[in-house]
Amino acid sequence: MFNSRNRAMLLAAAVAAVATAAGAAEPGYYGYGKIASPEEIAGWNIDVRGDDGAGLPPGSGTVARGTEVFSEQCASCHGTFGEGEGRFPKLAGGMGTLKHDRPELTVGSYWPFAPTLFDYINRAMPMQAPHTLSADDVYALTAYILNLNDIVPNEFVADQDSLAKVKMPNRDSFVWTDPRPDTMAKPCMSACANPADVKIVSTAEGRDLTPRTTGPLDTMQPK
Ligand code: HEC
Repeated sequence: MFNSRNRAMLLAAAVAAVATAAGAAEPGYYGYGKIASPEEIAGWNIDVRGDDGAGLPPGSGTVARGTEVFSEQCASCHGTFGEGEGRFPKLAGGMGTLKHDRPELTVGSYWPFAPTLFDYINRAMPMQAPHTLSADDVYALTAYILNLNDIVPNEFVADQDSLAKVKMPNRDSFVWTDPRPDTMAKPCMSACANPADVKIVSTAEGRDLTPRTTGPLDTMQPK
């Protein structure tokens, strides 16, 4: 007869055997997949926040460099000065038209944040080959398009710090607060509240909202 310690050791040996059989599998719910490496995560983690530019990568680009890259990679669709070829979107102009019957929505007339321009180009352009531009060239294109819209001067250099400081012409027409009381909570990821201050006023417990069945799903949960 095994005592419980022997059982535990046998179980450990069995688990080790399975792990070896599965090769380099990492511990996880179902024993497959692997933990993403920091490099893999960095490749996907490219989002840039509009209002403060959080997430912008290192690098920089001038209006002059942007002029070159734009004429090579963007002008065929967007026109040399962002005027738009055919039905491709205009990237410049349209200021003051937002209340017209046919408003012209462009980066200059409509967009609230300059860092979003970096983010958009970085994710999506040039349309036939996204994710092929260096960070420096995306900064340069951002500087060039802002300059086409007369928002920054010819000597402007776009980088991690300068983009969030650019005030876009239409920024104040966007509404930033939602006055409904249930939306006023501040988003927060850790130490959000002092547990002593939290009072639970109602729970789903005991109301039979989710039937507690047993079945195949239960047996798949990690023990
Ligand atoms: C093959 C044509 C093509 C090329 C080349 C191209 N774009 Fe675009 N671009 C588009 C189209 C089409 C859209 C609209 C996409 C949509 O709304 O879903 C767009 C949208 C955009 C927008 C957003 C406009 C807005 O106000 O919504 C920006 C900014 C932009 N492109 C920048 C660039 C830059 C910078 C380059 C060069 C690196 C480039 N594009 C190259 C076709 C192109």
